[in-house]
Amino acid sequence: MEKRPRRLRSNEIIRRMVRETRVDKASLIYPMFVKEGEGIEEQIPSLEGQYRYSVDRLAYGLEEVERAGVSSVMLFGIPGQKDACGSGAYADDGIIQKALREGKKRFPGLYFITDVCLCEYTSHGHCGMLQGDGVDNDSTLKVLEKVALSHAEAGADMVAPSDMMDGRVRSIRGALDRQGFTEIPIMSYAVKYASGFYAPFREAAGSAPAFGDRRGYQMDYHNLREGLKEALLDEEEGADILMVKPAMTYLDVLTRVKEATHLPVAAYSVSGEYAMVKAAARQGWIDEEKILCEMAVAVFRAGASSYLTYGAKELARWMDEGRLG
Ligand code: PBG
Repeated sequence: MEKRPRRLRSNEIIRRMVRETRVDKASLIYPMFVKEGEGIEEQIPSLEGQYRYSVDRLAYGLEEVERAGVSSVMLFGIPGQKDACGSGAYADDGIIQKALREGKKRFPGLYFITDVCLCEYTSHGHCGMLQGDGVDNDSTLKVLEKVALSHAEAGADMVAPSDMMDGRVRSIRGALDRQGFTEIPIMSYAVKYASGFYAPFREAAGSAPAFGDRRGYQMDYHNLREGLKEALLDEEEGADILMVKPAMTYLDVLTRVKEATHLPVAAYSVSGEYAMVKAAARQGWIDEEKILCEMAVAVFRAGASSYLTYGAKELARWMDEGRLG
């Protein structure tokens, strides 16, 4: 036998020497939930190990992020009140706006990305303005502009629209530019599928739609070429980073998007992916560390430059300890 692939697998030194995919803490983004109220630091039942913080307790969470060596967070807000047009999403004293001011002041070294969407703020739980039973695209754009702008004014380093309205990247880019926020990048949830994997998030954020579902705006998961269309549209409209979401079940899409664009591509391993790992690990059926590492490497192998994951702090620690990467 001339060809013996096993030669390169004989010990850890040689295995690591020839490794094709390396991972780095710098590429991790940690999603966090901020909730209106005081003294709140509550574990989210559907997302073991993840917490909702009120603004006065947010520092506890951010401190851990910083200590883990993760330098970027994605903030989601849970407002005290909701209304039909989601006005809490752009209020000057809205939950995200307050969290940003506090977070930026106390943690100037952290990079704050905000989710720009309305579903946590609307009484009906949809990601835009209702017209009849549907979500109206163009009137929603105006509201999204206000949300993104108010985040930038409160100190966001980057905004990430996740609503899946047509044309929102161009709208938001224009609104930011007109107010002088030309240097704030947009990470668009460009290829976002209507997915059952978001269920634990919706429990965490109280953002499940009151009727119907999101298939009128989020993508049909049978489609890959449509994902490329969405990605290229967002690039054309001025996005700086394109995200594919969920991650694990869409790695084919991720790879194709990476090939089709010149922008960095991010992957979001969503709540349901994390919750499945936690649930199976609790039963003793899988090893949580092994699975989270394998999922992370798969995303980078598929072509991601950045990785949003609820396991970011743990992954960072395992990287430090040389167990991953
Ligand atoms: C807001 C938004 C959602 C997620 C990120 N931004 C929920 C949804 O679209 O229903 C899901 C994140 C996760 O499941 O971890 N639209």
